[in-house]
Amino acid sequence: MNIILLGPPGAGKGTQAKRLEQERGMVQLSTGDMLRAAVKAGTPTGIQAKAVMDAGELVSDAIVSGIIGERLDMEDTLKGAIFDGYPRTAAQAESLDVLLSERGRQLDFVIELEVNEDALVERVEGRFTCANCGEGYHDKFKLPKVEGTCDVCGHHEFKRRPDDNAETVRTRMAEYRAKTAPILPFYEAKGLVKKVDGMADIAEVGAQIDAILDGKA
Ligand code: AP5
Ligand code: MG
Ligand code: ZN
Repeated sequence: MNIILLGPPGAGKGTQAKRLEQERGMVQLSTGDMLRAAVKAGTPTGIQAKAVMDAGELVSDAIVSGIIGERLDMEDTLKGAIFDGYPRTAAQAESLDVLLSERGRQLDFVIELEVNEDALVERVEGRFTCANCGEGYHDKFKLPKVEGTCDVCGHHEFKRRPDDNAETVRTRMAEYRAKTAPILPFYEAKGLVKKVDGMADIAEVGAQIDAILDGKA
């Protein structure tokens, strides 16, 4: 099964993708995470992407579709891909169709996380992740069970993203509204879109997604 998780910054795409990886053995393909890894490694792509990401704008379609294509050639993605933060423009949606059909694969669902934008700034500002395994947390909504210790790997260091400040989040939301939300009709026309209430708590959002994947919603 191959799915897209679609929603603005802080909607919960990464949170739900990580859970689906752990519970269903699917593979999270987050272009944001891949780009951050490229920035950290100082690759040519990373050097090009850093300033764009820090400003909250979109990296070029060619770069992100290129890295998704390379990733889809790795065998683990045959277990089922969760596209998180990709596609983000009409051109990327068209590229994804080509990338999948070239490999004899197809999309099963596009799951839209419906959220109230006003709540998202708080979600993004409170976010932090384990520096070792990448597990996501939140200052208010999802603290580690033991303070200062990652639930998943037991590590004690955490990090925050440079683009997770109120000002950059506003730009990221504007980009979502202008360029990403308009791709929904493309998938609606294919009958692939399912909506979940992204304002519910994390477990409830997960249950709504599970119902869709299990053919019960
Ligand atoms: P990316 O990394 O994709 O960031 P984003 O889309 O802005 O989304 P986020 O990761 O901020 O949000 P999320 O939905 O994953 O939320 P999360 O689950 O963490 O992209 C970053 C940048 O890279 C872009 O700005 C762009 O420059 C570039 N880029 C990436 N992909 C690109 C592409 N395809 N094309 C061009 N450029 C691209 O949740 C947020 C917080 O809320 C967490 O702390 C979590 O614990 C908490 N939370 C989650 N769900 C709930 C809930 N239901 N209730 C309460 N709290 C919750
Ligand atoms: Mg994310
Ligand atoms: Zn960890």
